[in-house]
Amino acid sequence: MIKNKITAILFLGFVLQINSVSAQKRAVDRIDLKVDSVLKLMTLDEKIGQLNQYTGDRDATGPITNSPNKLKEVRDGKLGSMLNVRGAKETRAVQEVAMQSRLKIPLLFGLDVVHGYRVTFPIPLAEAASWDLAEMENAARVAGRETAASGIHWTFAPMVDIGRDPRWGRVMEGAGEDTYLGSKIAYARVKGFQGKGLGNLDAVMACVKHFAAYGAAIAGRDYAAVDMSENALWEYYLPPFKAGLDAGAATFMNSFNTLNGVPATGNNYLQRDILKGKWGFDGFMVSDWGSIGEMVAHGFSKDKKQAAEQAIKAGSDMDMESRSYLPYLAQLVKENKVDIALIDDAVKRILRKKFELGLFDDPYRFSDVTRQEKEINSAANKQASLRMAEKSIVLLKNNKQTLPLTKSLKKIAVIGPLAKSEKDMQGFWSVSWQNDKLISLYEGLQNKVGKQTELLYAKGCEITDTSKTGFAEAIAIAKQADVVVMAVGEAYDMSGEAKSKANIHLPGIQEDLIRAIKATGKSVVVLIMAGRPLVFNYTADNADAILYTWWLGSEAGNAMANVLYGDYNPAGKLPMTFPRDEGQIPIYYNHLSTGRPAKNDQDTRYRSAYLDMQNSPKFAFGHGLSYTTFDYADLKLSTKELSQQAKINISFTLKNTGKFDGEEVVQLYLQDKFASITRPVKELKDFQKVMLKQGESKTINFVIDKEKLSFYNQKLEWAAEPGDFKLMIGTASDQIKLESEFVLKDE
Ligand code: GLC
Repeated sequence: MIKNKITAILFLGFVLQINSVSAQKRAVDRIDLKVDSVLKLMTLDEKIGQLNQYTGDRDATGPITNSPNKLKEVRDGKLGSMLNVRGAKETRAVQEVAMQSRLKIPLLFGLDVVHGYRVTFPIPLAEAASWDLAEMENAARVAGRETAASGIHWTFAPMVDIGRDPRWGRVMEGAGEDTYLGSKIAYARVKGFQGKGLGNLDAVMACVKHFAAYGAAIAGRDYAAVDMSENALWEYYLPPFKAGLDAGAATFMNSFNTLNGVPATGNNYLQRDILKGKWGFDGFMVSDWGSIGEMVAHGFSKDKKQAAEQAIKAGSDMDMESRSYLPYLAQLVKENKVDIALIDDAVKRILRKKFELGLFDDPYRFSDVTRQEKEINSAANKQASLRMAEKSIVLLKNNKQTLPLTKSLKKIAVIGPLAKSEKDMQGFWSVSWQNDKLISLYEGLQNKVGKQTELLYAKGCEITDTSKTGFAEAIAIAKQADVVVMAVGEAYDMSGEAKSKANIHLPGIQEDLIRAIKATGKSVVVLIMAGRPLVFNYTADNADAILYTWWLGSEAGNAMANVLYGDYNPAGKLPMTFPRDEGQIPIYYNHLSTGRPAKNDQDTRYRSAYLDMQNSPKFAFGHGLSYTTFDYADLKLSTKELSQQAKINISFTLKNTGKFDGEEVVQLYLQDKFASITRPVKELKDFQKVMLKQGESKTINFVIDKEKLSFYNQKLEWAAEPGDFKLMIGTASDQIKLESEFVLKDE
């Protein structure tokens, strides 16, 4: 009897499953039918209009090429989308104009919501330092909700470019240097922005960018050429894009750079062979700002007409602000240089998203002022930003347990050009608000201990000037204080797009100020606020404690105060390597060996090493301390001989051996000791963020299978090769706590 019941339940489940899959398929078919029905009504000009995107004039994010009357072009059906128009009221007003066009095709509104819309979150590189995928997904979810409530359908995020070069200012926008971590974060952020899926009123289209390999610009100079082997492209730079696609990303954005001589915008290999071909991407590709027209400057296109031809053929569906498609595509079709089928395909991809968003049913469904007021800048959203900020802070150094501070301190000297800064807490790529309220470090300390501790303040110097006139005042208050808290770093616009720097030392004379304050003999805690890894060797060697706080957004000061006082025990880990000097760049942890690897910084004779600088970084990928300590022990492998289809179960014991409850990011690295293509000396293959109370122990488990041993071989096949592997488990890439070996067998 029971058996029949179970069978019946299973059969019902099967039927329901089939139904839901077929329901989805029917829904897609219905949308395709609708898309085709609209396409049939469109003139060639109206089709080309859908491929054209202009910026609004309020917050332009690229070189402006003005148009006399954009709204007239909207009414004439010459635009499919606008960016940088925001707000329920503002988007409704423009959409109303679009509804006056012949076919009433709704516009898409896009905006760079990279780390928060109304409530600003930490910059993406800071969030990556949390290694907390759920928290990062939630940060994107909050940003997506606020964005969707403000009439915007589409964010140009996440940026998933692997960044190994801190001279490139856009590292602030990504997830750092590691492919595994970057892929996990790309997936989480797309899921966050798109929520339960397009069509939901709180979901926005994600846009995985910049496709591809933009972060490898030669010399770290933005927009510069990228030259790399296909193996490096597939091994290190493409996986985060594939992860974003696997998360269901609705759109992609191409990149400004050439890849091996061919601009991404006109790159068939990238956009058609890989993205739309091998990976089956059915969303649409938007160009980056002007990147189609820029193929002329690249020396790839004779003129914008040829650029338009090359871009549409290469799979660039929408032209952001280069004004190449609008004037030339119709001619190119009439001259039989461009097949109308290519245009139809691009138009259908865009119309499909407009249907999925529900804009044909109700073009104004996202432009609701009441919902906007309820959703944006809420206390809950600020709490989410605070939590993300706390988790993004990295404790680089903490000599003699200088931190956490105690509330019994009577006087604290707060010194530095960023101590009272609110504006710089927003970071680059924040959505600017005249009435924005960002909490400075100083205000955060006031909120935390202002009633019982006297806060002395002196700026000391500016971020970039060379005047020491402020030093005396800073030294004077330091001498009166029990402890000094210093806030130094970059202004919010010193990292970001078109912000490449050949010198990434702490700007100006900020280190001189630190040196002068250190000379008072006081205990000095330094907070470094920046959008990229900086060089600060004196500070690193002489400060008593260092927190790398990046740019933390709306709740910056409260998060920093919570960490300074131990109300949040920092657990951040660096997502990028911090060099000792620009001369070491590019420097990253998962580098290849050489025929003469230096065993350590002293091993230089006939070794791959510098005469004048150590090989090792100042701070390694994965580095980050806690107020407590952790012990790693009892590493066990279920086998040391892995056959092709099997798995190795790894376990070890992690113990909190300190005086604070705390989180540890345990990192699993592998080394393939010899292979048909030389493999990195170590690669992150898994991690877990574990909360342990004081004295608590936990057994931590990982699983290794062939997937984790695979790489792109010389034929670009994804495969694992039999051989010897080294397993490393650590608290940082240069702090390995447990090691073992195993073999992958060939059967
Ligand atoms: C910029 C950026 C891109 C951004 C776009 C729209 O130039 O490269 O990331 O999404 O233009 O602002």
